Amino acid sequence: MKPLAPFNPSFFNPRSMAAAFVAALVFALSPAKAVASEARAHPVAVEVARMTAEATAVVGALQADINAGTAGGKASPAQLFTSFQERYLKAAGKAFDEQGTGLEAEARKTFAASLRDTNTRLSPVMIKGGTDAVVPAYYRAELLKRFNGQMRGKVQVYATTRKADLINADWAVEKVMKGSPFAAEVAKLMEAGGLTPVTVETGDRQMVYIPMRLAAGCVACHARNGINQKEGDFGGALVTEVWLRR
Ligand code: HEC
Repeated sequence: MKPLAPFNPSFFNPRSMAAAFVAALVFALSPAKAVASEARAHPVAVEVARMTAEATAVVGALQADINAGTAGGKASPAQLFTSFQERYLKAAGKAFDEQGTGLEAEARKTFAASLRDTNTRLSPVMIKGGTDAVVPAYYRAELLKRFNGQMRGKVQVYATTRKADLINADWAVEKVMKGSPFAAEVAKLMEAGGLTPVTVETGDRQMVYIPMRLAAGCVACHARNGINQKEGDFGGALVTEVWLRR
C-alpha cells in the first residue's frame, strides 16, 4: 500500500514550495481562512469514517450466518449494498447520496464504487461460508485498499490498532500509515488507549483519529484469534486524512 505517494513529490518541487510558503503566509495572516479549510475537511473525514464503520458493521451483523454457511441471499452483492444504505440512513439520519459535487460527494461516490466492487468480489466467499471465512477487518481492508487507491491521496482511511492487540501484523500502524506525517502521533494515541476522537492539522493535511470501542462480539472473536481484550475498552482506530487545498 502506498497511500500518499501521488502527492509526496510535489512537496519538494520549488513551485509548490513557493505556493506552500504563500499559503503559510495567508494562514498566518488570516486565521479565519485556516478555520474555513479545516471546517471543510472535517465533515469529509467524519463522513468517510462513518461510511467505513457502517459498511464494516454489515459484515459483523452477518458473521454468525457466514460462519454457519447460511448467509445465502443476505450476502448477495445487491443486498450487501442495501444493508449498508439502511445502516447509513440510521447512522447519518439521511439517505446515502451518490450525487453532488465537491470533495465530500467525490468521496461518497468513490466509496460506493469501492463497496460495490468489494461486495462483488467477497459475496461468493461469504455465501459459501465457514468459520471466519470473511471477518469485518478483512472486508474493510479490501474496501479501503480500493477507496484509498482511487482517492489518490486526497482522502485516505486507515484501520489499525496498537501493537499488543494486533491479530495481523499487516495492520500495524507503521505499515498501514507508511509515509504519513501522522503515523507516530497515531501510534502514541493508540498506546494511550483513549476513546476520544482527536483532530490534528499539519502542513496541508488534516487527520481525524476515531477510536473504536470493543463490543462483546469483537472480544469473543478476537479471543479465538489469541487476543485477550475487554468489552468497552479501546479496540483499534479509524484514521482519516484529508488533503487541504489552501
Ligand atoms: C468474526 C471474528 C471477528 C469479529 C466479530 C471482529 N473481529 Fe476484528 N479482527 C478479526 C480478525 C481475524 C482480524 C485479523 C484480520 C486479518 O488477518 O486481516 C481482525 C482485525 C481487527 C483489526 C485490525 C488490526 C488487527 O488486529 O489485525 C481491528 C482494529 C479490529 N479487528 C477491530 C474489531 C472491532 C472493533 C470489532 C467489533 C466491532 C471486531 N474487530 C470484530 C476478527 C474479528
